[in-house]
Amino acid sequence: MNLILLGPPGAGKGTQAKRLEDRYGLKQISTGDMLRAEVRSGSEVGLQAKAIMERGELVPDAIIIAMLAARVADPAIAKGFILDGFPRTVPQAEALDLVLKQQSMPLDHVIELQVDDAALVERISGRFTCARCGEGYHDRFKQPKQDNICDACGSTEFTRRADDKAETVAARLEAYHRQTAPLLPYYAAQGILRVVDGMAEMDEVARQIETILGPIP
Ligand code: AP5
Ligand code: ZN
Repeated sequence: MNLILLGPPGAGKGTQAKRLEDRYGLKQISTGDMLRAEVRSGSEVGLQAKAIMERGELVPDAIIIAMLAARVADPAIAKGFILDGFPRTVPQAEALDLVLKQQSMPLDHVIELQVDDAALVERISGRFTCARCGEGYHDRFKQPKQDNICDACGSTEFTRRADDKAETVAARLEAYHRQTAPLLPYYAAQGILRVVDGMAEMDEVARQIETILGPIP
C-alpha cells in the first residue's frame, strides 16, 4: 500500500507517518528529514537547501525530484511507502506519477490532514525532537513521560528545528497555501483524495486514517 500524507506544516504528517510505520509496516519517506540530513552532512544539496529552508521557502523541484526518485523505487520497501512532505508542487506530483507508472506501482490513497492555521503555529512553536532517535514531542501536547528523558530511547538530549521560528512558520504556511494546496484538486480528480480532521487529538487522527486504510495486515 502506497500513501501520501498531505497537509500544511505542523499538521501531524510526521507524527502519523511514524505510527503507520509501526502499525502497518510501511516505510516513511520524508523529504524534510532527507534535506535536514543533507544539511547536517554538508553535501552539495545540503548547502543549496539550507538557506532556502531557513527562509521557509520550497527547495527547487529538480533537487527534490532527483532525491526522491531513487528512494521510491528502493526494493527494500516491501509493504509500501508513506510520503511525508512530498509532493509539494504540481510538477513534483507529475514527476511522482511518472516514476510510479514506470515502476508499475499504484498510489492507493492521498490523505489530507486538515488543520487551522492558528493551531499550526501553536503546534510548530512547541515542537521538539529527541536528538538520538528522532521521537517527536510537544511542550503542551506530548511531553516525555519522565521530565527530559526520551520515552523511546532514554536520551536526555533534544533539539528544535531552525525553521520553527514564528517568522519562518508564516512563510512556510504561505508556501503551502500558494504552491501545495493546488495538489488537493489534482488528487481529487484522480479519485484518491481522502480527508481527515487533523484538529482532532493524535489517537483520533490515527483512528480516522486506519478507517481509510482498512484492517492492519
Ligand atoms: P518538512 O520537514 O516536510 O516540514 P513541514 O511540511 O513544514 O511539516 P512539519 O514537519 O513541520 O510538520 P508535520 O506535519 O510533520 O507535523 P508533526 O507531526 O511534526 O519541510 C521542511 C522544509 O524542507 C520546507 O519548508 C522546505 O523548505 C523543505 N522541503 C521539504 N520537502 C520539500 C519538497 N517536497 N519540496 C520542496 N521543499 C521541501 O507535528 C507538529 C507538532 O504538533 C509536533 O510537536 C506534534 O507532537 C504535534 N502534533 C501532531 N499531531 C497533533 C495533534 N493531532 N494534536 C496536537 N498536536 C499534534
Ligand atoms: Zn529518543
